[in-house]
Amino acid sequence: MLNIKNLYSGYLKLKILFDINLEVPTREITVIVGPNGAGKTALLNSIMGIATVFAGEITLDGIQLKNAPPYKVAQLGISYVPQMENVFAELTLRENLMMAGYMLNREELKNKTDQVLDMFPILKGFIHRKAGTLSGGERRMLAIAMGLMRKPKVMLLDELSTDLAPLITKRVMEGIARLRDELGITILLVEQMAKRALEIGDKAYLLVSGEIKYSGRASDLLHHPELSKLYLGVKEVE
Ligand SMILES: Nc1ncnc2c1ncn2[C@@H]1O[C@H](COP(=O)(O)OP(=O)(O)OP(=O)(O)O)[C@@H](O)[C@H]1O
Ligand SMILES: [Mg+2]
Repeated sequence: MLNIKNLYSGYLKLKILFDINLEVPTREITVIVGPNGAGKTALLNSIMGIATVFAGEITLDGIQLKNAPPYKVAQLGISYVPQMENVFAELTLRENLMMAGYMLNREELKNKTDQVLDMFPILKGFIHRKAGTLSGGERRMLAIAMGLMRKPKVMLLDELSTDLAPLITKRVMEGIARLRDELGITILLVEQMAKRALEIGDKAYLLVSGEIKYSGRASDLLHHPELSKLYLGVKEVE
């Protein structure tokens, strides 16, 4: 389990997150929702050792991650799919997957590539195309597939549905649910337009202005009469 206790963090001297307590149980999808600028990306950056941690604890299965450099956090089994610029546009899909799996030997690379393509079969059709020519949804799926090449225990996924059509968002979320259900991966999923994410999520946290304002079951937040309207852009839940 990934565990955050009394975390205060930000960038250099700037304080962004205040007293964050968060549990990300193994083999579950934990969803973080909240408006622009709330500190969602800063939270993922704090876990990865990219932002500055001022106080508190971040542990993975009891191992302290606080102040560990990003490569060390990655070695411990946490894979980060960032919000932007998460694929190499000038490389083909296959080359992107090879880059992401650079630490694997030849046989592992082949097996892992086959496995991630089975998770996102739509990518098989354009394996030799440059990633820059993919649609938004295909590109997000490639970014997730690249994160999977590192054989992670935990994946941090930052707003993968931005600018996607609702149907495509649904497909991407279904793919993420399969990572939990079929591969047993623990997922921390950040989303701004949260409906689809809360539908697949187990637990959820609402982050506003650097503080946790709600924590509970994802389905409870989705159906919360005020919070869902105020922060999540959910008007009516069909
Ligand atoms: N590198 C940085 N240096 C200083 N301040 C930053 C840096 N990156 C982000 N911030 C600030 O930190 C605050 C939180 O930003 P963050 O990117 O975590 O928000 P977010 O919840 O991810 O928003 P969005 O939904 O728009 O992605 C914002 O006020 C932002 O301007
Ligand atoms: Mg963000």
